[in-house]
Amino acid sequence: MVAYKSKMVERISLPARETRERALEAAGYNVFNLDAADVFIDLLTDSGTGAMSDAQWAALLRGDEAYAGSESFAELESAVADVMGFEHVVPTHQGRGAENVLYGSLLSEGDVVPNNTHFDTTRAHVANQGADPVDCPTEGADDPSLEAPFKGNFSLERARAVVDDVGAERVPVVVQTITNNSTAGQPVSVENTRAIRTFADEIDATFVIDACRFAENAAFVRRREPEFEDATIDAIAREQLGYADAIVMSGKKDGLVNAGGFVATDDADLFERCKQRAILFEGFPTYGGMAGRDLGAMAVGLREAVEPSYLEDRLESIATLATLLEDVGVPIYRPVGGHAVYLDASELFPHLEASEFPGQALVCELYREGGVRGVELGSFAFPNTDRPELVRLAVPRRTYHREHFEHVAETATAVLENRETVSGYEIASDPAVPELRHFSADLEPL
Ligand code: F0G
Repeated sequence: MVAYKSKMVERISLPARETRERALEAAGYNVFNLDAADVFIDLLTDSGTGAMSDAQWAALLRGDEAYAGSESFAELESAVADVMGFEHVVPTHQGRGAENVLYGSLLSEGDVVPNNTHFDTTRAHVANQGADPVDCPTEGADDPSLEAPFKGNFSLERARAVVDDVGAERVPVVVQTITNNSTAGQPVSVENTRAIRTFADEIDATFVIDACRFAENAAFVRRREPEFEDATIDAIAREQLGYADAIVMSGKKDGLVNAGGFVATDDADLFERCKQRAILFEGFPTYGGMAGRDLGAMAVGLREAVEPSYLEDRLESIATLATLLEDVGVPIYRPVGGHAVYLDASELFPHLEASEFPGQALVCELYREGGVRGVELGSFAFPNTDRPELVRLAVPRRTYHREHFEHVAETATAVLENRETVSGYEIASDPAVPELRHFSADLEPL
C-alpha cells in the first residue's frame, strides 16, 4: 500500500536522442561520467539519492553545530541504541569512511578477511590495510535463475576452508554484508548470522556486519524465515545486528539520508581505537565529518527505516519494477532483492563475450534509448572473477513511482527489439586503481 504523498517536487525531462548520443560519447561510454542533468531516470545507485521525509527536513533546521558534544550527536546515539542496539557510535562522512576507521583499527598486513561478498569499497579498504579480501558466497549465489530465500548468505563451509588453508591467526575479522549488495541485493538469514557468530568465536575473530541495508534485510527475514514471521522489524534488526561485535554503516542507504555513516559497537576498547582513527581521518568523534544537521536527519531516518509501512512500500516498489521488466521479456536475477533489480546481460546479449562487456553494452543502450542510468556489475566492474554479467537498476528510496518504472520497461523493450545489433565495448584508458576502474575508465564501442 502507498505510504507517501509529495510535498516538494523536482523537475525532470528526457533529453533529445541526439543529446543523449553526444553525452554518452563525451562520457567515454562510462555513465559515471554523465551529467545528471542529461539523465531522465537515475537508477545508478540507491546511495544518498533518496527523498528525506518532512520530519528529517525539520531535523536539519534543528541541527546542533557544536564541534564537541553536539545535541544532534546525542540524538544519533539514541537512535542507534534504540534501532540497532549498540551503545557506542563513531560517526563518519559515509560508509567507506566507517570502513577506513574500523578496518584500519582491526587489520594488519597479511591478514585474510572472509565476507559473504565484499562490496567494492570494502574490498579496496581491506586491501588497503595489506589484507586479503576473500568472498564466501553461499552455493547458488551466482545463479540468476535459482529461487531460494537467502541467496545472500555467507558460506561457513567456504570460510572454514579459508581458515584451514591460512590458519585461524591470520583471520582476525569475519564480515557479513546485509543485504548482499554484490550478490544482487539478496538477503541474509538470522540463522546464517548466528552461525557466523559461533564460527567467529571458534577462531577468535571479530565479527563485523556491514549493515548498510539492515532494515530491508529485516523485512525479508520477516517474510521468509519462519521463526520471525510474528516478530517486529526492529526486533529482528536488533537481534541480527546484535550478534556482531561491530557494524559499519552507510547512512546513505537505510539511514535514509544523502550523506553520512558510522561505526557502532558495544566493545569499549574497539570504540576507543576507532575514535582515535576517526580523529585522524573523519573529525572529532561527536561529528566525524558530518554537519550536526546531517547527524540529526540520520537519527530520524534510522527510526523511519524500520517502520513497517515504509518497508512494505520499499520492497513493493522494487517488485513493481521487476514485474514490469519481466513482463516485457527482460531476463532478471531471481528472486528480486531489496534495493535494486539486477538484469542478466549475458542472457540478453548471448552474442557478446564477457571480454566485450555485455553488461556495459546494456547500460549504454538503456541510456541511449530512454535516458535511464544503471550500473554494470559484471566483467567491467569485477575483472578476473567468474561472475554473471549483471546490470543493476538501483531504486532510490521514496523517489520514483510506477510511471517512472513504466518508462524503464518501455526503454528496455526498445533495447530488446534491437538486441542482435548491439556491439560490445573495450577499455580505452587505464585507471590508477584497477579495482575501481569502472568508476573512471573510458570505453570504446567495438
Ligand atoms: N558497503 C556496502 C554493502 C555498500 O553497498 C556501500 C555503498 C558501502 C559499503 C560504502 O558506503 O557509499 O556510503 O561510502 N554502496 C553504494 C552502491 C555506493 O551504489 O551500492 P558509502
